[in-house]
Amino acid sequence: MMIILIIVCIIYLLFIFHMLFWHSELKWNWDKIDTSNMKFSNSFYWGTATASHQVEGNCKNNNWYNWENSKDENNAPRIKDNQKANLACDHWNRYKDDIKLITNLGLTHYRISLEWSKIQPDKDEYNQEAINHYVDVVDSLLEKNITPVITLHHFTNPIWFDQLGGFEKEDNIDFFVSFCEKIFPIFSDKVKIWCTINEPEVYSVMGYFAGVFPPGSKSPQLTVEVLKNLLIAHTSVYHKLKNMPNGLNCQIGLVKNIMQFDPYRKWHLLDWIVCIVTNKIYNGIALSYLKTGTININYPFLVKLYYSSNKAALATDFFGLNYYSHNYLKFKFDKYEFFENKYMEDDIMTDMPYPIYAEGFYRAIKEAEKIGKPIIITENGIADYKDNRRSLFIERYIYAMHKAIQEGTDIQGYFYWSLMDNFEWAEGYDMKFGLYEVDFKTQERTLRKGSETFINIINGQQ
Ligand code: BGC
Repeated sequence: MMIILIIVCIIYLLFIFHMLFWHSELKWNWDKIDTSNMKFSNSFYWGTATASHQVEGNCKNNNWYNWENSKDENNAPRIKDNQKANLACDHWNRYKDDIKLITNLGLTHYRISLEWSKIQPDKDEYNQEAINHYVDVVDSLLEKNITPVITLHHFTNPIWFDQLGGFEKEDNIDFFVSFCEKIFPIFSDKVKIWCTINEPEVYSVMGYFAGVFPPGSKSPQLTVEVLKNLLIAHTSVYHKLKNMPNGLNCQIGLVKNIMQFDPYRKWHLLDWIVCIVTNKIYNGIALSYLKTGTININYPFLVKLYYSSNKAALATDFFGLNYYSHNYLKFKFDKYEFFENKYMEDDIMTDMPYPIYAEGFYRAIKEAEKIGKPIIITENGIADYKDNRRSLFIERYIYAMHKAIQEGTDIQGYFYWSLMDNFEWAEGYDMKFGLYEVDFKTQERTLRKGSETFINIINGQQ
């Protein structure tokens, strides 16, 4: 018995030793790093991004509208302080002025999303006025020499689609594919970069595991099934659009958020295990699906899913990488929330519950590179109400990207999230991600001081 105990202890010590020295998370000594003089190729593009529900205003026909206007089982509001998107940034009416703001920054690209619920308000109805609106947005961008990038799905579903079960049902994917087939020919002469689905893992984890996005479920099994359906939807849309006129001239890709998970206590086996499990679900499923066409996950009592398709592997023209930060996970005894997020004392926090960690961006880029497709940084930004960390954030994250490019990673462009403050989903308007500050009473936009670092880096390129 004693011998067995000693052997177990030795194995555990070896494990901890291995993890401490071989898998300790990357940390750079920023005091010794020179971030001046970063040079990017002339073809590298600089952009900014927004999403329809977060900026347009009057999105009253989607699942988020219902969500914002509903209460949870304790009669508490879904969104912080019962905020609602309502008029948002009134971008629907102010887009021409907002495009001037983009031009003033010296950016070359703008990533928008189309609000499916405005274009297809009912299952059998398309709204021509809404389509014309987006045609005008695209034309207005092109007039100003700004390249439009379209996202076909950014978190919101029309109410009719949700009532049919949304992405919980594999059969419903066809509705989304038909929407994309209808839209693509209208824009594909003019729009050459397309994002199919924004962050399938965020949509499914927040909506079906954490329960803070609609529909507010807390089911690990449903989480992975919805994630699988979104990935299948991406593949179907990808092939359909590639086979349409202009399809081959367009770059069509999935946008994936990569999050880093590191153990809070490096000596604690259970912290390691929750990191491995969480990473496999949050990052591993989509990465393995894109790489091999297969999802194979089996954590007894938690999730079990097998799916394989010979059409899915490498069915993306680029890897759209959204990166924000990382979390330290600490195991806890709770069937549904088996870990909590922790931070280290020396972490520089953003206003969101995660720190500035540019090394994690670098790690995510290296992870994305393994898919073997060009990378576009489709989102990266900081919520910083006081605007006292934005400049540091921009400098460090762009440095991390620059370092990866220098080492040979094929990154084509970078989109800062976001052009202006907007409706930050469950957090309402409290999170200030904008290069421009928005006064939501007057709709006045003001460039933030911290954003100048971004402009300076871009202009250093010209
Ligand atoms: C989403 C955005 C969101 C941003 C900041 C991304 O996950 O695509 O819609 O505003 O993160 O939280």
